[in-house]
Amino acid sequence: MTDAKKLFIKTYGCQMNVYDSERMVEALAGEGYVTTDVVEEADMVLLNTCHIREKASEKLYSDLGRLRPLKTAKPGLKIGVAGCVAQAEGAEIQRRMPLVDLVVGPQSYHRLPAMLRGDAPAVETDFPAEDKFDLLPERRGTARPAAFLTVQEGCDKFCAFCVVPYTRGSEVSRPVDRILTEARLLVAKGVREITLLGQNVNAYHADGWGLARLLRALAQVEGLERLRYTTSHPNDMEDDLIAAHGDEPKLMPYLHLPVQSGSDRILKAMNRKHTAEAYLRIVDRIRTVRPDILLSSDFIVGFPGETDADFEATLALIRAVGYGMAYTFKYSARPGTPAAEKPEIPPEIADSRLHMLQGLITTQQRAAQDAMVGREVSVLYEKPGRMPGQMMGKSDHLHAVHVGDSAGRVGEIVRVRISASSSNSLAGVRISE
Ligand code: 5AD
Ligand code: SF4
Repeated sequence: MTDAKKLFIKTYGCQMNVYDSERMVEALAGEGYVTTDVVEEADMVLLNTCHIREKASEKLYSDLGRLRPLKTAKPGLKIGVAGCVAQAEGAEIQRRMPLVDLVVGPQSYHRLPAMLRGDAPAVETDFPAEDKFDLLPERRGTARPAAFLTVQEGCDKFCAFCVVPYTRGSEVSRPVDRILTEARLLVAKGVREITLLGQNVNAYHADGWGLARLLRALAQVEGLERLRYTTSHPNDMEDDLIAAHGDEPKLMPYLHLPVQSGSDRILKAMNRKHTAEAYLRIVDRIRTVRPDILLSSDFIVGFPGETDADFEATLALIRAVGYGMAYTFKYSARPGTPAAEKPEIPPEIADSRLHMLQGLITTQQRAAQDAMVGREVSVLYEKPGRMPGQMMGKSDHLHAVHVGDSAGRVGEIVRVRISASSSNSLAGVRISE
């Protein structure tokens, strides 16, 4: 097709945005758009934004500034802002950056085609009664063997630092039949691994089902070999979900279970509604049923009022758990959240704590990775490696693995003996059956 319009889409932030971007690309395909990686070629630029920390939010405005010469040279170029900054700032974005043509919040993506045609307002940030997923075109499926599938959106937890309950709204779960249908469609297109996504995915509740029952039903889908889910809240780790980690072989031994802090005082101020000890108990129970599970977490340092002793408690919790991975963040005051009202701690103290925290996490991450050397793991090939005769994939523990295998095909799940560990990945050789 020679007259196809070109869409350049940039995704910031979390995996839910990655999933939403895919769905928007599919919706815009119906309007004659194909994607391009070259922004200068684009007829439409769509920025799918993140509002979680100030830096993430400000990135949008610097990127929009950089688009100005392009828009001047090509006045027909459409520029759209999607995602959580769109939701939070709405029409303000166009006031600050008049080059923006469309502003669309995460619950209104199904309206994009109408917005482009001029049949809907240029700013859509409602939480409409209709379900966007019902109105978006059916999944085309992806060429990749590992896919995301959003099953739950929004959050009712109201952690004191977090904008998500405001930008993504309250918890909503998608119906079981829609999820099973989408999963089967993805598998028919070659997907072997699905990661279920939700801001609070383990709070999933629909048709009387919780997440554990949904995972077990998905495990019955023929051809679907691996299941993961993210992100979870400790208070929603129900008994049946913990049990599934022990007896559902398709559920991979990796769990992202953010704790944010190891200090009870700070956890309380964060409105996390659990103690450090309660978290450690959950970790113990999961490890009892699945001893080799790798855990990951998010941590915030420099939350208002955090003392040295509070920070020490975080380090102690990390030492007690032993993480395979973790994301570390410096607290960022977000307008409209309760914590933003509190006095902040000096930035240099937050910086030095972040540095220490990252040091400890890097050590643990490396130790978890090094411990794989000599072990046999399964790897799902996701793409050819950089070297000829090499494949790149993920192990069941979510480690990136380079495998010497000249006959390997994308989508294969193979047994691999790990031979080496480097800073961000493992290397191994295929074990012939
Ligand atoms: N400042 C710093 N980190 C934050 N997160 C959420 N809100 C903030 C904030 N205001 C982190 C939390 C969460 C992750 C997705 O982002 O650790 O788990
Ligand atoms: Fe934000 Fe807390 Fe909800 Fe996670 S659980 S999205 S950190 S409010």
